[in-house]
Amino acid sequence: MLAFGPPTCPAVSYSTAKAGFFGIADGHSVGNRRTVRDYAPASLLRVARRVLDEPTARPGHAVPLAPFTDSNMSRLVLVGAGGHAKVVLEVFRALGGFNVVGFVDPNPPAPVLLGLPVLGGDAMLHDLRAQGVDSAFVALGDNRLRQRVGSHLRAIGFALPTAIHPSALISPSARIGAGAVVMARSIVGTEAVIDDLVILNTGAVIDHDSRLCTAAHVAPGCALAGNVKVGERAFVGVGSAVRPGITIGADAVVGAGSAVVADVPAAARVGGVPARPLKKHP
Ligand SMILES: CC(C)(COP(=O)(O)OP(=O)(O)OC[C@H]1O[C@@H](n2cnc3c(N)ncnc32)[C@H](O)[C@@H]1OP(=O)(O)O)[C@@H](O)C(=O)NCCC(=O)NCCS
Repeated sequence: MLAFGPPTCPAVSYSTAKAGFFGIADGHSVGNRRTVRDYAPASLLRVARRVLDEPTARPGHAVPLAPFTDSNMSRLVLVGAGGHAKVVLEVFRALGGFNVVGFVDPNPPAPVLLGLPVLGGDAMLHDLRAQGVDSAFVALGDNRLRQRVGSHLRAIGFALPTAIHPSALISPSARIGAGAVVMARSIVGTEAVIDDLVILNTGAVIDHDSRLCTAAHVAPGCALAGNVKVGERAFVGVGSAVRPGITIGADAVVGAGSAVVADVPAAARVGGVPARPLKKHP
């Protein structure tokens, strides 16, 4: 039986989220926002015609989505439109079973990504829910923000599906939480637990009895041995290795390429081989 207690991994509790959780204005009021017409090819203009011509200029009002009748598919919106969101979209495309309607992001890098439109800022979410979009996925790399947005999405009635790439290897005794993503070629070992809103990134290995607490992120190519605990919102940088039985505290940061051979306190920043506390530059 696994035993994980506070402060490393407290019970999941969702608080009521506040409106405007991105912390900045809705995308439509961002002055330098680029439009589809600026550079999208004609084929993408067709995809995004509703975004161009319909009332996306009004913050908080989603454009009407095309009629959708396949009751076997869930309609899903991705929250966030950065690089991580594109990878998540491809996980859902590989998985099947979801009709991804687009992205929501107050300040997207482009109006169309991988053929799907950015529908607006976070104020769109209520309208999308009202239009029958029943699932949402928080595709944001910022661990604290991802946790906060996940709470908000639940509070307004979205289901948070789990995204597991078909090439991932998951032990039948492992558990994966809601809103978590398990990227391509990652491995989750026997009785490992991946909590809600976790990112287990490309090719990372989480061995037996380990636990990644809510909104933690284990970056590509990491190798966590058995019985490792990664606290809430903690981040383990790309290509790091973690010795068996280690606890990494909540909100800790482990730098890229580290070898973690001793417990890491909550909110600490460590790096190197072996991992030591990192200096902070002003
Ligand atoms: C740890 C990290 C977050 C620190 O970033 P930062 O706050 O900008 O820190 P700085 O670059 O100012 O470095 C501060 C010091 O730590 C050292 N340092 C930074 N990252 C280090 C690492 N991974 N290993 C060892 N030392 C590291 C720097 O050399 C510097 O040392 P100095 O004070 O002797 O000059 C960052 O370097 C890192 O490793 N990020 C991981 C990125 C990643 O894995 N992304 C995956 C996304 S999917």
